[in-house]
Amino acid sequence: MLVLGIESSCDETAAAVVRDGREILSSVIASQIEMHKPWGGVVPELASREHLEKIDGIVAQAMTDAGVGFDAIDAVAVSQGPGLIGSLLVGVCYGKSLAYGLGKPLIGVNHIEGHVYSIVFENPPVQYPALALIVSGGHTNIFHIPAEGQYKVVSRTRDDAAGEAFDKVAKMLGLGYPGGPIIERLAKGGDPSKIRFSLAKISDGRPDLSFSGLKTAVAKYMREHDVSPQEPGEETRQEIMDLAASFQSTVIRSLVGTLEKLAVELSPRTLIVAGGVACNQALRAAAEHAGTRLGAPVYFPSKLLSTDNAAMIAAAGFAHLASGSRSGIDMTADVTMRLQNLENEDADLRRKKVRYRL
Ligand code: KG4
Ligand code: ZN
Repeated sequence: MLVLGIESSCDETAAAVVRDGREILSSVIASQIEMHKPWGGVVPELASREHLEKIDGIVAQAMTDAGVGFDAIDAVAVSQGPGLIGSLLVGVCYGKSLAYGLGKPLIGVNHIEGHVYSIVFENPPVQYPALALIVSGGHTNIFHIPAEGQYKVVSRTRDDAAGEAFDKVAKMLGLGYPGGPIIERLAKGGDPSKIRFSLAKISDGRPDLSFSGLKTAVAKYMREHDVSPQEPGEETRQEIMDLAASFQSTVIRSLVGTLEKLAVELSPRTLIVAGGVACNQALRAAAEHAGTRLGAPVYFPSKLLSTDNAAMIAAAGFAHLASGSRSGIDMTADVTMRLQNLENEDADLRRKKVRYRL
C-alpha cells in the first residue's frame, strides 16, 4: 500500500510517499526558515503564500523521487491540524482535490499524531502501553498510548511550548531564529550549573509543564546582571553561553523529569520522544538515561524526521487506512485539533495521591 503524505501546517511544505506505513520511498521538505528569519519568527501570511507557490512542485518531486505514478497511490493523507489556518488550508485543499480527482481515499491526519508516528521508520515496532513526549515549536504534550491509536493527554504545557521558549530566549539573547539549534550549539561552551533556574511548580499538582516563567527568569537575570544581548558580528560572550546552557538544562530537567514521573506511574513499555525539539542531543541523552533507569527503550526519530515532514503524516495516515477509517470530502482544516480519544481520568491520578513536585 502506498500513501502520499502532505504536510503544510506551519512553515514546511512537504510531501512523501510511504509504503505500508514503514518504508519511505521519497520525502521532500521545503523549509521556509530563511524567508521568516528576518522577522524572528513565522509570519502566517508569508507562510501560506509560500505553501501555495511550492506545494505542486513538492508533490511532483515526491512522486518523481519515489519513481511511481499517481495511479499507484492507494490513499492521500494530509495534515488537518493543529497549525496555522492559512498554511493548513493549502495542504488540505490540495490533498482533497488530489484524492477526489484520483478517486482514492482521503485521510485527514492530526499533525501531532504524525509526530508520534515519526519514529516508526528507524526503530523496532512500538510495544504498548507507550508514553510519548511530543515537543516542538507549537506543542508540548505527553500522551499515554495504551494501544495503537488511543491517546490520552497526561501532561501539557500551560503556556509556551518548549520550542517556543527556545526561540524566545534566543531572541532575547540576540541569537537569531530558530533558537533551538543556536542555543544547543552555544550551550556546549557554557556551564549548565552556572545559573540555577527553578522549575515551574503547577499549583493544582497536575504533572503539567510551564515555560513562560523560565523565559521571564532569563530576562530578569539579564537585567540584574547587566547581560546585554549579543550584537550582530560580536563573538559570543561566556555569560551568554552559560545562560544558554543553564536555560537548556532547566527545560530538559522539566521535560524529562515529568516524563519519568509519569512513566513510573504508568509503566510504559516504550518511550517516544519526537518533534522539533527532539533534535536536541542533550534532551536525547537525558531521555536515554531516564529510559535506562525505567527499563524501557526510548525511540527518537532521526533529525530530518524530528522537524515537520510528510513521511510521518503518511505513516499515521496508513494506520488509519489500515483500521478502515477515512475522511469525507467535507473534511477541513482544524486549527485547534486535539489528539485525545480517551477520557482523561485526572481523578485517577489524584486518587493515587501522586505528588508531582517539579
Ligand atoms: O516540529 P517543528 O519543526 O515545528 C513545529 O511543529 O513546531 O519544531 C520546531 C521547533 C522550533 O521551536 C525550534 O527552535 C525547535 O523545534 N528546535 C530545537 C532544536 N532544533 C529545533 N530546540 C532545541 N534544540 C534543538 N536542537
Ligand atoms: Zn510539528
